[in-house]
Order: sequence, then C-alpha cells, then structure tokens
Amino acid sequence: MAVQRTFSMIKPDATRRNLTGKIIAKFEDAGLRVVASKRVQWQRADAEEFYGIHKERPFFNDLVDFMISGPIVMQVLEGEDAVAKNRQVMGATNPADADAGTIRAEFAESIEANSVHGSDSPENAALEISQCFKEEEIVG
Ligand code: CMP
Repeated sequence: MAVQRTFSMIKPDATRRNLTGKIIAKFEDAGLRVVASKRVQWQRADAEEFYGIHKERPFFNDLVDFMISGPIVMQVLEGEDAVAKNRQVMGATNPADADAGTIRAEFAESIEANSVHGSDSPENAALEISQCFKEEEIVG
C-alpha cells in the first residue's frame, strides 16, 4: 500500500478536556505524521457544509450544535495506508463498540462527542482535505 493522506479532526469534547496532545500521540505512535494542522472555531455554516452528506439524518442539527460548541483541531495525516490506519486508531464511531486502546474507547464520551473524525475513504479524504486546507498549508 502506498503512502496516503487522510483528514482528521479533534472534536470539541476532546479540546475542552485538553486531550489534543494525547490524541496526536496515538496517531504518531501508529506511524502517521501530522503534515498540516490548525485549531479553529467553526461557525454554523462551516459545520453544515462539512457534514452536508448527513443533512437528512436525524442527528444532523445536534451534530452541528456540538461541532460549533468549542474549538476543533483539523489535521492532515500522512503515512502508509493512512485512511484505514487512522480509522483503526480512532476505533468505531460509537465508543461502546470501539476496540480497547483506540482513541474512542479511551476518550470518547458518546456517539456524538466521540473525540475525533476521520475520512472514511481516499475519495472523501481528498475532498475533506481540500475543504479545510490550502495546498501550501500541507508540509510533508
Ligand atoms: P463522524 O465520523 O464525525 O461523522 C458523523 C458524526 O455524526 C459521527 O462521527 C458521530 O459523531 C455523529 N453521530 C451522532 N449520532 C450518530 C448516529 N446515530 N450514527 C452515526 N453518527 C452519529
């Protein structure tokens, strides 16, 4: 498998509890490199655009409210098989189903406040990276 890039976000429940460093350490320990990073406060329109694919889902409004409730850390992660590796390190969306040692098993509070987001495919990784970073902000 070739070197890939994926998009990662540390969510407001984790920044609020000062877990940014502990979460990044999990990525780095798995062999992923942070090649772009920024901490931002999203406005409602930012969250609605990013999560647009979920807009018909019953949890959409709560998800948007949560994602603008505090700062997030957006990152590009690079490494061998980065999309799948990031998903392994994060664990299942619902922390109740997440394997021991994963970010969500250790840190997530609920299916909504689940500490991290990661791209689910190389196609979505490219889309999410381009939504959140300019090419010159990514330094490999
Ligand atoms: P994320 O990977 O950021 O993508 C969409 C998010 O919606 C997901 O993680 C969850 O945090 C959130 N969410 C809230 N409720 C649900 C649900 N019932 N099913 C799936 N995702 C949910």
